[in-house]
Amino acid sequence: MKRITIAIDGFSSTGKSTIAKQLAKELEYIYVDSGAMYRAVAYYAMQQGFIGPNGLDAAALVAALDGISLSFQWVPGSEDAAMFLNGENIEAPIRTLAVSQQVSPVAAIAEVREKLVAIQQQMGAQKGVVMDGRDIGTVVFPEAELKLYLTASADTRAHRRYKELLDKGEKVSFEAVLKNVQDRDYIDSHRETSPLKKADGAIEIDNSDMGLKEQFERILSHAHSLIHP
Ligand code: DC
Repeated sequence: MKRITIAIDGFSSTGKSTIAKQLAKELEYIYVDSGAMYRAVAYYAMQQGFIGPNGLDAAALVAALDGISLSFQWVPGSEDAAMFLNGENIEAPIRTLAVSQQVSPVAAIAEVREKLVAIQQQMGAQKGVVMDGRDIGTVVFPEAELKLYLTASADTRAHRRYKELLDKGEKVSFEAVLKNVQDRDYIDSHRETSPLKKADGAIEIDNSDMGLKEQFERILSHAHSLIHP
């Protein structure tokens, strides 16, 4: 059976990872959460003291990039693969609001992107991959057979993210989450290196008022029509 590459891009909390995981499961493809990799580098920068009261020391982070080893590994008792940084499971800390607040400037560094894009391209080299992020259809896999661009209003997305954080026991205010969503939208779409934009040929889906089931069925039928033309 023909195996394809599925690239899903969009702003934060547009439900990319939920759809990507469902698709990967249904098609028996690999799922790669590229945002987790940028989060891991931001977490590393925080741990190493490269992010302080005066902001991010990009030069120090770039100089230390060779010391960063990233992998996705399965851990017993979890349905999804976890993000590992230099052998340590960092899946929980990278999902906190503290990391969300630091990740966009880190992801704007060209050298960081170069390193992560190379790893992502290697992960998807055999096709049969669903990858989500901001530049998957534009930079990582511009030749992907199926490209999706998910959107939803900032308010809808902030409510989704707020609920997720509360469910995980994080004490955050809705206003802080909304501000973070808006700040990241701005930085992710205005940075110089591979800003978020709709890829050529991408199918745009606004899911502000669309149920997950309807969205999934629509996307799956696009995938099937490419796999069994
Ligand atoms: O998808 P996410 O919210 O976990 O991504 C975290 C950050 O990483 C996001 O604010 C922008 C950045 N990112 C990126 O620049 N390129 C990607 N392919 C994926 C994420």
